[in-house]
Amino acid sequence: MEQGGGGRPLVEVRNLSVGFSASMGFFKKRTVSAIDDLSLAAWEGESLGVVGESGSGKTTLARVLVKLLRPHSGEVLFKGEDVLTQTRKEERVYRRKVQMVFQDPYESLNPRSTVWDAVEEPLLIHHVAGDRHSRGEMVERLVAMVGLDPGAVKHKYPHQLSGGERQRVSIARALAVSPDLLIADEPVSMLDVSMRIGILDLMLELKRKLGLTLIFITHDLGVARYFCDRIAVMYQGKLMEVARTEELLERPLHPYTKLLLDSVPVPGGAGPAPPEAVDADPRPAPAGCKFSPRCPYARDRCRGSAPDLTEVSRSRYAACYYPLTS
Ligand SMILES: Nc1ncnc2c1ncn2[C@@H]1O[C@H](COP(=O)(O)OP(=O)(O)OP(=O)(O)O)[C@@H](O)[C@H]1O
Ligand SMILES: [Mg+2]
Repeated sequence: MEQGGGGRPLVEVRNLSVGFSASMGFFKKRTVSAIDDLSLAAWEGESLGVVGESGSGKTTLARVLVKLLRPHSGEVLFKGEDVLTQTRKEERVYRRKVQMVFQDPYESLNPRSTVWDAVEEPLLIHHVAGDRHSRGEMVERLVAMVGLDPGAVKHKYPHQLSGGERQRVSIARALAVSPDLLIADEPVSMLDVSMRIGILDLMLELKRKLGLTLIFITHDLGVARYFCDRIAVMYQGKLMEVARTEELLERPLHPYTKLLLDSVPVPGGAGPAPPEAVDADPRPAPAGCKFSPRCPYARDRCRGSAPDLTEVSRSRYAACYYPLTS
């Protein structure tokens, strides 16, 4: 599905569904759907934002893409090739080409490894840069590339670094193996506000320099606005809207996107009032559109069946029977 991108897709999921089994007391189990029939592509060289509230399935999508999790159904394609049926050799290459930066840099770094060892490790695992000397040069270059002073930090351990520095080390580790795709899952949400812009700017600069494709996961539309060419909005495992960033932010088509936008604080102002008739908590998933219990515009049709993601206007996709503007 094109969904308003351009060029060719680097990575694509088609009709992806992922469920987790949840225990409901003795013997009873039910499957919780984390991703429900989702199709989405990231285009070569773009920065694609994936936004949505907590529990909407963003991290699950990322974990499927880096093969930490196998979907129950659907396809994952990388440069048009099926990712789920790779041979071991193909999988090794894929694991190099697709890297992830996690939310908590403290958890993703080994507390007993120095910065030097942490950045060298992926080079060793993936047999990048043969001898010790060229590996050393590469580690220095990578550490400098993420804005750290190699001399000052190379012997330090994670606990001796600030949150922002730790995240820079995580980024250096991810970039060590020259990935094509970098997936960043809330990479700045645990950092002090003062450090966030620095990390975002660094990622933007590296993206430009290295020609990376980025999938940027965040619940914060303000961050996505800063960072992304296109934004995909998820709600309870479903895609609600996909569009170019400025179009999505200026004229949201899906009531859920509007709700998200209305809850972004406006600097210097009280911000617009949220739409009326919206509950604080979503009720159980209905048979129809998953957002309909919270949607101020829902009609009978919305409660009866779920709308597919369709092109509402040129390159603007929404899963809504009654989009806000068209
Ligand atoms: N390992 C797991 N076992 C059981 N349920 C899970 C597991 N991982 C995720 N889920 C469920 O799947 C759904 C999607 O979770 P996911 O972590 O992908 O959401 P998210 O959008 O990343 O949320 P957040 O913004 O809080 O990080 C949630 O209902 C969550 O409870
Ligand atoms: Mg998450």
